[in-house]
Amino acid sequence: MCGIVGYIGYREAYPIVINGLKRLEYRGYDSAGIALFDGEHLKVAKTKGKVVDLEDKVKRELTTDGHIALGHTRWATHGVPNDVNSHPHYSNSENLVIIHNGIIENYESLKKALKERGYTFKSDTDTEVLVNLIEDVMSKENLKLGKAVQVALNQVIGAYAIAVFDKNKPDEIIAARLGSPLAIGVGKDEFFIASDASPFLEFTKNAIYLEDEELAIIRLGRDVKIRKIKDDSMVDPYVQALQLNLEQIEKGGYEHFMLKEIYEQPSAILDTFRGRLLSNEAIIKMSGVEDNMKKFLNAERIIIVACGTSWHAGLVSEYIFEDLARIPVEVEYASEFRYRNPVITEKDIVIAISQSGETADTLAAIKLAKSKGAFVFGVCNVVGSSIARETHAGAYTHAGPEIGVASTKAFTTQITVLSLIALRLARAKGTISSSDFRHHLIELELIPDKVKKALESDSYVKTVADIYKTAKNCLYLGRGYNFPVALEGALKLKEISYIHAEGYPAAEMKHGPIALIDEQMPVIVIATKKGHYEKVVSNIQEIKSRKGKIIGVVTEGDTQVKDLADHVIEVPETLEALSPLLTTIPLQLLSYHIAVMLGKNVDQPRNLAKSVTVE
Ligand code: G6P
Repeated sequence: MCGIVGYIGYREAYPIVINGLKRLEYRGYDSAGIALFDGEHLKVAKTKGKVVDLEDKVKRELTTDGHIALGHTRWATHGVPNDVNSHPHYSNSENLVIIHNGIIENYESLKKALKERGYTFKSDTDTEVLVNLIEDVMSKENLKLGKAVQVALNQVIGAYAIAVFDKNKPDEIIAARLGSPLAIGVGKDEFFIASDASPFLEFTKNAIYLEDEELAIIRLGRDVKIRKIKDDSMVDPYVQALQLNLEQIEKGGYEHFMLKEIYEQPSAILDTFRGRLLSNEAIIKMSGVEDNMKKFLNAERIIIVACGTSWHAGLVSEYIFEDLARIPVEVEYASEFRYRNPVITEKDIVIAISQSGETADTLAAIKLAKSKGAFVFGVCNVVGSSIARETHAGAYTHAGPEIGVASTKAFTTQITVLSLIALRLARAKGTISSSDFRHHLIELELIPDKVKKALESDSYVKTVADIYKTAKNCLYLGRGYNFPVALEGALKLKEISYIHAEGYPAAEMKHGPIALIDEQMPVIVIATKKGHYEKVVSNIQEIKSRKGKIIGVVTEGDTQVKDLADHVIEVPETLEALSPLLTTIPLQLLSYHIAVMLGKNVDQPRNLAKSVTVE
């Protein structure tokens, strides 16, 4: 995790790097730091806390002129978040400075060897070891910075996106990546380095995304030179034109990114199926699926790997793949899958779901599945991300940048893509009738408007949030397609309001959670008309007789649950398979409002990060 930003060019570097860090804070925000070179002196300021705390510190301690800077926002792995462990890190001579996103796994043995050679360390970080290793290689072997970084990285086990600067060579920055993302913005007489393109969008739309094991020599007045770290071969830089614009990464009048992203869902879902769903012709067109149709049709099993909210989207799709396309599905936490010697064969299709496309466990699960001969299909949001590139084929969700750490529009757009795939396969396999297929397409097309309608419950959900904001525990129940929605609702509440919440299949309540129910316990029950409605109503009765507080998420016009529940939140009617796209909306709003009312940092909840690039 962590965000890195660098600038070298003719502009004032400080504001570019500080603003860039603010845009990357979703990647980590427990400390921040900056190194500035004013043409003569290399200065570093760093602090525990957020980028605004860094700005305060810089105001007190540094002058900010200079055209070269490296900045970092941290999510601690090695060493607690404090000033000393914050990046950038100097080498012992203070000639070199480094920023790093990733983990150097063998840092202890490297540190021991460096200590024996007289190096000293101020921090507990693996990164300080790396910068001294580079310095050691440079002096021992009398190498230029780029070569020294390459030699040092060949001794390193782990993951990294780094940028290194040498004050004795002030026209260049060396950047490299393995496992953590790194983009280079290419302007006229200036370069930007960042974990994603957002820090430099207003300056250039030309970007090079480094591949794993590549090192870039970024020198003013020259083209970027890229080498393979292992075999030293040259790589032709591929400069791509970015499609992103600034508006997409700003709050656009909303108080928080999370709220903006919740409200973006109608258009995000529309963007997801635009050009893919042709209901008039009763066609779904997805090139990643069409090009590999034979593989999909011959698959004996689909294994879905993902983490967090993406895993919940995988669970929803398990229902639709099995229900409509009749393909057996297993949904696995990527972290468990990769470490338990799973049985995978060439007849399996692995679908990896990831908003960021950078989650380390998901990436490792993909590599494992590929090594066993499985065909791996990616469902990612971030274009050009590591997972998008590592998979054999895939489909983007096209949700636009998701900045709030708690995932919202990524979830609904992932479900949309996965539903399209399941429907396409069902049609190809003949497991769905043509009228049923057409009906699903027409209903899917109506979803954006129905999500808009579901969003109209916002002010009522706010009232409910006000009543339950002081709850210590919450239970979320759902059945069938809406069981994963219950899990997702509970996760949202935990993530941003720090209230303990559990999601359960409604019928399982009797096997444990029912013991928790008393008059203090809010129970959110998803009880839409289709999908075991009567059974869920019975579960609601069971809660009511134990005096639990019931918040029902129901289909418009429902009367039965209304009579039993303390509050009901209505969503429009749709097909059961598509209902998660609607029932999840009030749950997102509920956790959002509770977190705001409790004064929590909604977009940057404690201890979390948007993109988990460490195991
Ligand atoms: C982190 C984020 C979650 C996300 C999960 C998986 O935990 O905070 O919101 O669901 O990672 O991320 P991915 O990018 O792979 O979907």
